[in-house]
Amino acid sequence: MLAPALSFDRSEKLFARAQQIVAGGTTQGKTPDTLLPGEYPIFADHGQGSHLWDVDGNRFLDWILAYGIIVLGYCDPDVDEAAIREIRQGFAFPLTRPVQNELAELLVDTIPCAEMVHFFKTGSDTTTAAIRLARIATGRQKIVRWGYHGWHDWCCLRESGIPRAVREDVLTFRYNDLDSLADVLKRHGDQVACVIMMPLEIEPPAPGFLAGVKALAHRHGALFILDEMRSGFHLALGGAQAYYDVIPDLATFSKALSNGYALSVLAGRRELMERLDETYVSSTFFTNSIAMAAAVATIRKLKQTQAIPHLWRIGQGLLEGLDRLAQEAGVQARSIGVAPMPFLVFTDPDPAVRETAKFVFYRETTRRGVLLHPNHHWFVSAAHTEQDLAHTLEICREAFAAVRGELARGYRVPARQETAVTVSADMI
Ligand SMILES: Cc1ncc(COP(=O)(O)O)c(C=O)c1O
Repeated sequence: MLAPALSFDRSEKLFARAQQIVAGGTTQGKTPDTLLPGEYPIFADHGQGSHLWDVDGNRFLDWILAYGIIVLGYCDPDVDEAAIREIRQGFAFPLTRPVQNELAELLVDTIPCAEMVHFFKTGSDTTTAAIRLARIATGRQKIVRWGYHGWHDWCCLRESGIPRAVREDVLTFRYNDLDSLADVLKRHGDQVACVIMMPLEIEPPAPGFLAGVKALAHRHGALFILDEMRSGFHLALGGAQAYYDVIPDLATFSKALSNGYALSVLAGRRELMERLDETYVSSTFFTNSIAMAAAVATIRKLKQTQAIPHLWRIGQGLLEGLDRLAQEAGVQARSIGVAPMPFLVFTDPDPAVRETAKFVFYRETTRRGVLLHPNHHWFVSAAHTEQDLAHTLEICREAFAAVRGELARGYRVPARQETAVTVSADMI
């Protein structure tokens, strides 16, 4: 059965107004609305634990979690209390607050590659600092990368506005394909400063792949950098490098680090990190300490609780449940990803069937109050309960039944251009 459409009147009115006064209406790429026009909320009212409420009063069980920055749940009392204490103390001085050192100690203790750290505000700041440091350390220009690293010139998803010279210095390779990296390095190896990559997106690394990338990079005199914005504090406390036991020269973290407060970190080997003083990386808000206090509270809580095993348990339940439900419904789909960052792909060989199945599935889950992203893998938080999991699977069962029904009656959505927020878009 199809669920009735939700009302997004207030969201849509706010969006119409935003389009008059905010370029693009909202931050680019941060609404899944592009795939399901009129079916997703746009403006949030409040959140609590695993749930968010939109401005129309619709309540959603949320598996997007602000793209992975919420790992303990919305409005975690311990993290928010730490942030509020910092606000009351004063958080914006021409001086540095001692909480910087407290956080640095925690990170050095927690992240395998971290002999030293340096703090920034956004992921893009940090990945850009990482490649600059690699250029300083090697005296080379070119970057080899795989994955999403932010919006700065060297890694922007779109070419418009980016100098050709910047683009020419950035090369890529295929995930889980060491030969494709070997080929790039064979042709350009003596000019490559680093290989920077996400340890995974939706496809987990094949055994030996990450270690193979590191070995190839080092063989050609390049640094190996892991971009752990998403994997950090999700796969393991020490990130994917701890989970897969592949220690990079440098690594970048953000997102779950501070449960929603703006902060990012570059971590790495001492002799590399010390060379940051050969360049200039500074910004007005870098010493702003609210997020640092939040990060200390987040990491402590992650350490003191069974949060990370919980993410794995709930995520595994989701992965296994989705496969079972797809099979029971006779819908060609399968789960993919590691448990704390699960996802679903529709696999019918006919693109029109795939697209329709995807559209109907996400429309039905959203209408039933479960927020899953059609184009980006999901995240699990410590606030998601076994009941949340069971409820989500029940809703997915209904959504798969709706997909089967709509496909059987011959319904097909018009072909549309996908916005590839997910890097491994060719798999979706
Ligand atoms: C793996 C990865 N690297 C870098 C970034 C860029 O971070 P920011 O959006 O904070 O600049 C992101 C953001 O989603 C990311 O997922």
